[in-house]
Amino acid sequence: MSTATYVPYNDNLEQKQENEDQIIDSVVESMMRVNTRVFDKHRHAKRDAHAKCHGVLTGHVTVYDNLPPHLAQGVFARPATYPVVIRLSTAPGDIHSDKLPSPRGMAIKMLGVDGPQLLPNRQDATTQDLLLVNHPVIAFGHASAYLKTQKLLEKHADDPDMVRRIVAALARGGSKALHALGIDNPVVDTLGAPNNHILGETFFSMAAVRYGDYVAKLCAAPLSDNVRALTGQPLGDDADDSALRNLVVDFFNGQGAEYELRAQLLTDIEKMPIEDASIEWPQEDSPYQPVARLTIPPQQAYSPARRVFADDVLSFNPWHCIEAHRPMGSIMRARIKAYEASSKFRHEMNAQPRIEIDSIGQVPD
Ligand code: HEM
Repeated sequence: MSTATYVPYNDNLEQKQENEDQIIDSVVESMMRVNTRVFDKHRHAKRDAHAKCHGVLTGHVTVYDNLPPHLAQGVFARPATYPVVIRLSTAPGDIHSDKLPSPRGMAIKMLGVDGPQLLPNRQDATTQDLLLVNHPVIAFGHASAYLKTQKLLEKHADDPDMVRRIVAALARGGSKALHALGIDNPVVDTLGAPNNHILGETFFSMAAVRYGDYVAKLCAAPLSDNVRALTGQPLGDDADDSALRNLVVDFFNGQGAEYELRAQLLTDIEKMPIEDASIEWPQEDSPYQPVARLTIPPQQAYSPARRVFADDVLSFNPWHCIEAHRPMGSIMRARIKAYEASSKFRHEMNAQPRIEIDSIGQVPD
């Protein structure tokens, strides 16, 4: 593909929805009501999404040499190695058993990146966060659709099994999940949803980001043979409530892993919408192209100090980024206030400092 194929970034590619600010305020208000209930249950504040952590890892991202100009953009502009801290999670905003399927998250914080930060209050920061989930799209791909999901989650907040079913159905996306919104007592079908080893998954940004001169969706895919071998491997019948954490801890006790970061560049604004993240960008039109290697050495993945640091002190946020990777589209704009509110509440209630790290040495062993 020639560079001319790729749609150049410009500020007018984004189009705000009517009443978007009010819709987003309603999302955040509902989210915080649920979050407060989860706090009251545990007497400890959790993330409003991706509350359960399955491993905290350190490693590094190495940008590939000789990337062509369309891929050599933003943090991938030149060959470089960035230290990273990674938090593995599952999507619900409460702690559920790993016996049942839930979307998996991989949040990556890259340290020491160059370039101006996007948010004015982060001009001293040198981090770029990538928040990825193991599905290429989000079923409710813009703010008003997301508000319906959030209302549904709030309505069933005291029914953990229903919440888990809703979140799992959302991850698989599509008509079943939409159907669930239309009826009073939705029976959200999660039968057949895979409950596979977390380390064999491919994790996607789901929504678009600015990619320097262009626009892209990003993913992290298993690269080394040992994690590729785990793709599609179901958790055994003997899986217990903490099966995912146990698998991650056991794996990194003895071995390391490699993943590849890839970028899918926007080539057609009609077929590949920015404002609706529920529409998958066709890979036949624009494949995910390799840009960097993520290397994770063997380590202790879930020590008490790491668990507390990652769950209570760290914040991952798609708006923790450089200007060259501005999050784009309605669902991304909804995330500005949502992540800020969730993180602020969590830190206040757990009496923890809200800090950004600038050295991997700050992550405890
Ligand atoms: C584009 C699709 C999305 C992806 C890929 C995504 C991914 C993630 C991941 C991986 C985490 C865990 C971060 C960590 O380990 O600390 C997370 C947390 C969170 N997500 Fe999302 N998310 C998406 C959309 C949304 C939306 C639309 C909202 C709400 C409007 C939302 C609200 C949250 C909140 C509140 C947290 C917890 C923040 C904190 O307390 O620090 N997410 N998300």
